[in-house]
Amino acid sequence: MVSTATRIGDFQFDNCLMNAAGVFCMTREELAQVESSAAGSFVTKTATLEARAGNPEPRYVNTDLGSINSMGLPNKGLDYYLDYVIEEQNRIGSKPHVLSLVGMSPDETHTILKKVQASDYQGLVELNLSCPNVPGKPQIAYDFETTDTILKEVFSYYTKPLGIKLPPYFDIVHFDQAAAIFNKYPLVFVNCVNSIGNGLVIEDETVVIKPKNGFGGLGGDYIKPTALANVHAFYKRLNPSIQIIGTGGVKTGRDAFEHILCGACMVQLGTVLQKEGTEAFDRITKELQAIMAEKGYETLDDFRGKLHYID
Ligand code: DHB
Repeated sequence: MVSTATRIGDFQFDNCLMNAAGVFCMTREELAQVESSAAGSFVTKTATLEARAGNPEPRYVNTDLGSINSMGLPNKGLDYYLDYVIEEQNRIGSKPHVLSLVGMSPDETHTILKKVQASDYQGLVELNLSCPNVPGKPQIAYDFETTDTILKEVFSYYTKPLGIKLPPYFDIVHFDQAAAIFNKYPLVFVNCVNSIGNGLVIEDETVVIKPKNGFGGLGGDYIKPTALANVHAFYKRLNPSIQIIGTGGVKTGRDAFEHILCGACMVQLGTVLQKEGTEAFDRITKELQAIMAEKGYETLDDFRGKLHYID
């Protein structure tokens, strides 16, 4: 019997697949649809303190090899998602969930996290340090000094289980430097990776999305090798108490298998979920189970992190 069950910190999940923040998670209705699918959990759309309309449309486009987006953090505001995850937490039989958050400034991030700290919510929080799409705001986690300062301040008051969503890194020294910072803090997980920021897709002679003259975050096939590299680089460098969520380019059971082989304990679906809907959870779970059965693996721990190298 093959099981794709997993855990993050003290939280148990019946299945290792869930949505990636930004996809199928804007409204209660979308979140409920993920909840009632084969997914093991859901994460909410990254919430800011106040609701935001986001960038002008078109701001998301699917391509043959993936997607490009510049949504600009449209969301219904912290209270909408915080109220919902508290309601869900109190519902008998519900799954554990993840609340995604970030402020429009470090001060706002602290205001948000202090509200969550003071609330009844006891579940996982994902602090998004990697939104590439708000004009004038850099991806926080590319600035190591600011990231270190924010985490230091956060952990001076925040005592609930917290993880961070990271942008992809592209240099071995950056993996080393980032991991050295993350290892100083009691993080429960890091999620690798957010979209590859600021790509450009052109059709005929024109960009395909309106914000930022067409520049936007890439997802899908374009990003799988980068995502796998980030999952494995952090798996090798982080304290074993910090677990890895793998996100990027997963559209088959084989892709999920590769993320887990690189060290992921949970795997998130972004572009494929946007393209295919919540049926993708069932299909990819079955494909992953078939690969595990063929290889004789019964649990994720039988192969998680056990990537082979060439001698
Ligand atoms: C958005 C995109 C991201 O990649 C992210 O991490 C947060 C928000 C967005 O454009 O809405």
